[in-house]
Amino acid sequence: MALRPLLSEEQIQTRILEMGAQIDADYPDGNLFLICILKGACYFLADLSRAIQRDVFIDFMGISSYGRGQTSSGEVKVTKDLDISLEGADVLIVEDIVDSGVTLSYLTSLLQQRRPKSVRIAALLDKPERRLRPVDVAYVGFMIPDEFVVGYGLDFAEKYRNLREICILQPE
Ligand code: PRP
Repeated sequence: MALRPLLSEEQIQTRILEMGAQIDADYPDGNLFLICILKGACYFLADLSRAIQRDVFIDFMGISSYGRGQTSSGEVKVTKDLDISLEGADVLIVEDIVDSGVTLSYLTSLLQQRRPKSVRIAALLDKPERRLRPVDVAYVGFMIPDEFVVGYGLDFAEKYRNLREICILQPE
């Protein structure tokens, strides 16, 4: 397998600073909760939360999905739930990538049941060509083509998550 660079560390960090500034402007007050979806989004959460100047709360959620990307009836299960209540808070779901949209459409409705003030999504990467379920992504870092990408949290069989850049993984 060969790695072809798609987004450099500098491109990623520059874009995240812009996203942080936008989030600061959009949420001038109230409690803002950043919910990181494990595992891939942990690097994005770390950088995005520090690109935001206002106070934020962070928490983590684990999700496992079956049949994702192949069928719109993909089953989603919560493997680690939040430790905090979302009642009355502005919630920003932090994801590394939106692909079929199955995970995020499920998660958005799940979190909406917990009586937050608002729920929005921030995703570093969006592959709109792959969408099976409609998802409204309020903050998108980069729209990317339908290629297999790794790095900056994204894995292939758990490998490559710790790359600083995002690469396309291709057969040699
Ligand atoms: C990835 C990503 C999203 C989901 C998006 O997670 O972080 O949660 O897939 O796909 P969808 O739009 O088709 O639902 P993954 O299951 O690879 O888990 P990981 O972050 O632990 O690697």
